Amino acid sequence: TSNQMWGGRFAAGPDAIMEAINASIGFDQRMAAQDIAGSRAHAAMLAKAGILTDSDAEAIREGLLTVLSEIDAGTFAFSTALEDIHMNVEARLKEIIGEPAGRLHTGRSRNDQVATDFKLWVRDQIDAAISGLEALIRALLVQAEAGAEWVMPGFTHLQTAQPVTWGHHMMAYVEMFGRDRSRFQDARKRMNESPLGAAALAGTSFPIDRHMTAEALGFDRPAANSLDAVSDRDFALEFLAAASICAMHLSRFAEELVIWSSAQFRFVTLSDRFSTGSSIMPQKKNPDAAELIRAKIGRIFGANTALLMVMKGLPLAYSKDMQEDKEQVFDAADNLMLALAAMEGMVKDMSANRESLEAAAGSGFSTATDLADWLVRALNMPFRDAHHVTGTLVAMAEARGCDLPDLTLADMQEVHAAITEDVFGVLGVHNSVASRMSYGGTAPDQVRAQVTRWKDLME
Ligand code: ARG
Repeated sequence: TSNQMWGGRFAAGPDAIMEAINASIGFDQRMAAQDIAGSRAHAAMLAKAGILTDSDAEAIREGLLTVLSEIDAGTFAFSTALEDIHMNVEARLKEIIGEPAGRLHTGRSRNDQVATDFKLWVRDQIDAAISGLEALIRALLVQAEAGAEWVMPGFTHLQTAQPVTWGHHMMAYVEMFGRDRSRFQDARKRMNESPLGAAALAGTSFPIDRHMTAEALGFDRPAANSLDAVSDRDFALEFLAAASICAMHLSRFAEELVIWSSAQFRFVTLSDRFSTGSSIMPQKKNPDAAELIRAKIGRIFGANTALLMVMKGLPLAYSKDMQEDKEQVFDAADNLMLALAAMEGMVKDMSANRESLEAAAGSGFSTATDLADWLVRALNMPFRDAHHVTGTLVAMAEARGCDLPDLTLADMQEVHAAITEDVFGVLGVHNSVASRMSYGGTAPDQVRAQVTRWKDLME
């Protein structure tokens, strides 16, 4: 038998393979609540515009609520023959209320319907990403405030560079996740236009009120071009792009946690709650959550690329290719939310090993730059010369197997006669970080100022 929704011109029903490739109900049932919200707004508008009678509109409203409660209760029987969530809901509505159900689709198409549903779904995910990021930022602020003056090595090329503070390192991620949050906020503003009422592609001859449905669904305005409204998936792509950049940050942080929790670094101890053991090596405590964040992030990048690939060759307006938008976005959203929550949990629970951090901060000639700066300031030496003198002292310390503060004044004067006892004042790591007072620098006071600024922003 042919399809009850569009089968008028068909003599035969679809092949089983056709049904399998065509149906999206297996995944788009996740948009049931959005679909019903869109239909309710549409029906209310049709009644207000005099296109539906009030009693039909009321029957539709009641019926849709029943359908929604069936779906929520898990008693709704989804049918592959009915292809997608839109037709599943409408068919069930017809079973419940009869003839008025057939009037709901007046002045609307599945093309604007699916664009509306999907936009509503993505908008919710943007909101969820923003709150996930805010929770993570708050957890980082707690770490940063506690460790505003704990010293640790700062790296470039993963080689010891200069001492920094734990708080400063945490606040670097606060800046990144803060930008991620604002990217989602920007995307939300730009996407918040209603496709509903664009109909199949050209608009409709019925006297619909798109402003009314836009407002009912929390959109700022109706989309201004019906062709664009049904073909646009920018909103999903912007979500995926923002998610990808955020995911990249999560992955970098995850990588640092993997390195930092190793026996070679011992910078942090992850909690038991966010670690796992080994079935053969009894001593093992593995940072699996961090590793899985690092790995899952690839799926988000993949989804971004996949949807760009789906969209890039499509002529206007709707093509069925666009049905492939949802699984990518669903998977990316699920994994982003999971990664954000796991990262927040790890950050909340982890403890920085202050002694290991400090010991590491002082090794690797980390205050060599401070020494060179001292030569400039105290002896008025050109920085290039100071760099050379310091390099010679580093080579001397390296040959002796000691650190810079372990050299004697006599050793130093052998390299440059004018060096005085004062130099030892700048070779300590605490001095080093405290001296980095420039705006945005690693000095504890600067870090505390940034923590305060962010706490205000997060209120
Ligand atoms: N299931 C479809 C999708 O996800 C809904 C739109 C179908 N429209 C159509 N004209 N076939 O995109």
